Amino acid sequence: MLILGNTLDELKKLADDSVDMGVTSPPYNKQENKKGWLVSNIKYANVTDKKPENIYQEEQILVLNELYRIIKPGGSFFYNHKVRWEKGIMLHPYAWISKSKWNIRQEIIWDRAIAANIRGWRFWQIEERIFWLHKPKDKKDLIGKELLSKHALMTSIWRIRPEGKNPHPAPFPLTLPTRCIYSILENNGVVIDPYCGSGTTLVAAKLLGHKFIGIDISETYLQQAKTRLENSQNELKIIDDEKKLHFVAETFSEKKARGMHKKFTQKQKLLFE
Ligand SMILES: C[S@@+](CC[C@H](N)C(=O)[O-])C[C@H]1O[C@@H](n2cnc3c(N)ncnc32)[C@H](O)[C@@H]1O
Repeated sequence: MLILGNTLDELKKLADDSVDMGVTSPPYNKQENKKGWLVSNIKYANVTDKKPENIYQEEQILVLNELYRIIKPGGSFFYNHKVRWEKGIMLHPYAWISKSKWNIRQEIIWDRAIAANIRGWRFWQIEERIFWLHKPKDKKDLIGKELLSKHALMTSIWRIRPEGKNPHPAPFPLTLPTRCIYSILENNGVVIDPYCGSGTTLVAAKLLGHKFIGIDISETYLQQAKTRLENSQNELKIIDDEKKLHFVAETFSEKKARGMHKKFTQKQKLLFE
């Protein structure tokens, strides 16, 4: 389902506990003045990316709390953002995410391998962040379900090249939502992207066998998403390539069963307890 409208208004219309998980990259409030050597200013079709920072953060907390309401207990949300600086002051997404209702399960580093803006004030910022947020089932469930062993080679640093061909001004690469969804959702789920843009999350959800809800304020981007979804088979190879990375030849339990752990020192063994 594709919904044209303002995210906060549209989320309020969705039922409590009705969605399994979500992935998004919201507008970053980059003030539309962050032109670098490698990227042009990011300007969206129907909305400015230029708000007083306190208003922006308050709005993001409201959006995160609406997402918390509609996600099922035990469900997750992956929130992609980055560390920004305004007039020399660091603005870290933790500042507002920690004020929302979500429990932060992990902060993943998205290593883009290339900086958007190359200047000498700081070391090249080649990373963004992906916050894995968890909605506990009850007061004791602060962590959630364990990942299946096939995902055991995944680390908290994801090296994924930025998207280069998509005409949307700020798309993320298809591999990113694919990894989030494939790692935690088995089958026939519902996935939401409340700032869906060109529909990257929705294409991943569809090709992985899930239903999807995408919201965006721009008709142009939703039309792009619709066309992509209709031709989603053309992007299947990226999904298949990602799936191949989720594979372990032998889990630790299997290693243990064949006695391999007996070769470990006592100190090494303790690491696995
Ligand atoms: C970073 S982009 C998301 C791009 C998307 N991940 C993709 O791969 O195409 C943010 C999107 O949020 C949308 N947007 C900004 N403010 C919005 C609002 N208040 N309500 C709904 N959509 C909004 C913009 O139109 C833009 O497409």
